Amino acid sequence: MYSKIVNFDSLVLFMVGLPARGKTYVAQKVCRYLQWLSVSTKVFNVGNYRRKLHGAHQMHSFFDPHNTEGEIARREAAFEALNDMIKWFLEEDGTVAIFDATNSTRERRIMIIDHCKKYDVQVMFVESICQDESLILQNIMDVKLSSPDYKDMDPEQAAEDFRARISHYEEVYESVNETPSEKDFTYIKLINVGSQAVINMIQGYLQSRIVYYLMNLHILPRSIFFSRHGESVYNLEGKIGGDSSLSPRGRKYSLALPELIKANLGDQPLTVWTSTLKRTIETAKHLQYPKLQWKALDELDAGVCDGMTYEEIEAKYPEDYFNRDEDKFNYRYRGGESYRDVVYRLEPVIMELERQQNILIIGHQAILRCIYAYFQKLSQDDLPYIKIPLHTVIKLTPKAYTCHEDRYKIDIDAAEAGRKGNSFELLDHIKKRANAIKV
Ligand code: SIN
Repeated sequence: MYSKIVNFDSLVLFMVGLPARGKTYVAQKVCRYLQWLSVSTKVFNVGNYRRKLHGAHQMHSFFDPHNTEGEIARREAAFEALNDMIKWFLEEDGTVAIFDATNSTRERRIMIIDHCKKYDVQVMFVESICQDESLILQNIMDVKLSSPDYKDMDPEQAAEDFRARISHYEEVYESVNETPSEKDFTYIKLINVGSQAVINMIQGYLQSRIVYYLMNLHILPRSIFFSRHGESVYNLEGKIGGDSSLSPRGRKYSLALPELIKANLGDQPLTVWTSTLKRTIETAKHLQYPKLQWKALDELDAGVCDGMTYEEIEAKYPEDYFNRDEDKFNYRYRGGESYRDVVYRLEPVIMELERQQNILIIGHQAILRCIYAYFQKLSQDDLPYIKIPLHTVIKLTPKAYTCHEDRYKIDIDAAEAGRKGNSFELLDHIKKRANAIKV
């Protein structure tokens, strides 16, 4: 059907598991993680294909394995998704596809493997097993009842229908490698969202990173707080980079911060992360929580421009000054870093953030932009323009597929080092995004 054979590196993650086991959550998380790392990644959700081909309001009997018509229709949806996926590899140079479906029988998995072999695509199964009834129920309530499948339906009736759908899948469900025919498959089984993982035949860098990432995921309720350091002496002088201390107003902010955090968290535990630079450590000074300094959280290295004002940079390196606007994500300061470099150095921070519960990061503008973009799924084009104002705490609370956001401004003035002139483009960009970023 397709003439070109895809790259050796192409990988498909086939989700496996009964409905309401968090497969879509895992698929979306992995997709975001890889996209943030600039790996071309796309999710193919078979439920969406099924709704497109056969309508949204299919009752549980559609999923009954004894319903031949339903079985044919579901197979058709799976094939349509599979074909689109292969097309994406071939025509759009995709690297990782995530096939979000139940894939819950051995027969279906063997069919998938055989199909993918034709295109030289590596296959890894990601099975989500959940024996915790309360987690399953929570998933049904949080996600499934608001799915287009149950739009405008009485919630109790919808829950009952969904449970019946699960029973149909249970009738034929075979966990990966229950029989010897799957012993050579590459897979990870995630049991009870992160409490246990079983891995088999994992090969290569990308698969290992994905496994490591999956092993860090959890769904315990928690919040991630971000704050830039308080106003620094360099902020007052309009200089970038450096390692200056806080200004008097910055110190005032550091004194006000503990009350704001306490009002939000009560007695819940929290860990505070700072960079190794003075202005973040001084901002954290009055917070009575365990603290950790990360070198990886140090501000984007401005290289030869470190310690200069934007006017000085414009005068001394006019070409660089303007080039930065052309492609701010990829622009690398002479002898310094780009946003892309910073994303890569923050990868261990993201891994650890996924593993942890309540965290407050006191950081720097560029760093917080990169981390914020990861959680709020903002593109590389938007990332360098995200507004992270001084003297403001941003609170992100992860929900099923999104993050709820609150911002708290502490009423202490602060000076931002900003660029003059040539800023129309930046302002336009910020305005364009203003509606997209929830404040
Ligand atoms: C669905 O139609 O919602 C999922 C199909 C499947 O993977 O079984």
